[in-house]
Amino acid sequence: MVKIAVVGATGLVGRKMMELLEKKDIRIDELVLFSSKRSAGTALSFKNETYLVEELTEEKTDGGFDYVLMSAGGSTSLKFSPLFEQNGAIVIDNSSAFRVDPSIDLIVPEVNKPTLNRKIIANPNCSTIQSVIPLKILEDAYGISRASYTTYQAVSGSGVKGIEDLKRGENGEEPVNYPHPIYNNALPHIDVFGEDGYTKEEVKMIEETRKILGLPELKVTATCVRVPVENSHAVAINITLNSAPTVAELKHLFDQNEHVVLQDDPKNNLYPMQLTSSGKEEVFIGRIRKDDSFENTYHLWVTSDNLLKGAALNAVQILQQLMNTKEG
Ligand SMILES: NC(=O)c1ccc[n+]([C@@H]2O[C@H](COP(=O)([O-])OP(=O)(O)OC[C@H]3O[C@@H](n4cnc5c(N)ncnc54)[C@H](OP(=O)(O)O)[C@@H]3O)[C@@H](O)[C@H]2O)c1
Repeated sequence: MVKIAVVGATGLVGRKMMELLEKKDIRIDELVLFSSKRSAGTALSFKNETYLVEELTEEKTDGGFDYVLMSAGGSTSLKFSPLFEQNGAIVIDNSSAFRVDPSIDLIVPEVNKPTLNRKIIANPNCSTIQSVIPLKILEDAYGISRASYTTYQAVSGSGVKGIEDLKRGENGEEPVNYPHPIYNNALPHIDVFGEDGYTKEEVKMIEETRKILGLPELKVTATCVRVPVENSHAVAINITLNSAPTVAELKHLFDQNEHVVLQDDPKNNLYPMQLTSSGKEEVFIGRIRKDDSFENTYHLWVTSDNLLKGAALNAVQILQQLMNTKEG
């Protein structure tokens, strides 16, 4: 008997998680869907059955859940995840609330494994997930000493509100979610600014990369930019290795690795794009070049669907890993 709750079931990530639970035929004997009061009563379909979404309250965390897929923002998670945990569930949380807490596992299944010290597992930031997968491949093969990220992040990364602002701009209306129009524009501003001028999104990428890779001293920096793309993120990664493989060796390394798809044939206009990675489960990599301005340094261009591998798919893969370990 497996009882699962999806919290934030009416959101972009929550809906993707339900699609994946169905597609991957995850064993679920009882499913309960939660949202805020706003969407309570909404009818959602799962495996040809209709479920009515319920408002999440403190009492409902004691519902005998085995697993909770939490995707409802940081403050909701801070309040409810520990209650689900106390009531015996394992929580997989998409928000940033617990990610850098040293007692909490921060997991990308291709990269690291949960210790289950606590029964809350954090799903990393979307841009971080697609970046640490190639970084782990490089770390294992050559060692890495420095990484610099520049992101080109889709509006779906801001949830329903982000897509609505892009549509408003297309219709000539003013934005509501972002401080400036996102249509015909790019905003070097994701999440709030800190005193040092970095945004919280940039700090998340830096801290989470070190934690997931288990490299607390890794030199890493980030500039995060929102672009007028509906879905799928791109990250330009400038990476310094501990040795100097040829570009052909790097392409071969990625080509034979099962966790990424190499798309790197520029003469035939083949490279990863947000339009072509949207809706796909994989992490795509291309534009691999030597950066001659610094020793042992290379450029990579990585795209992936932020709602899939960047959020819902990674969470469902963590769930699958936990369920397999329990059965095994
Ligand atoms: N979008 C991405 O690419 C992405 C990637 C990685 C992580 N995440 C994280 O995933 C989470 C959800 O993001 P999203 O993009 O799906 O946002 P979204 O589309 O805005 O959906 C938010 C969901 O949370 C629910 N919710 C809000 N307050 C709640 C409460 N007090 N109790 C229960 N449910 C509540 C909402 O319910 P109502 O319908 O009732 O408002 C809705 O279902 C966030 O923490 C976000 O940071 C998002």
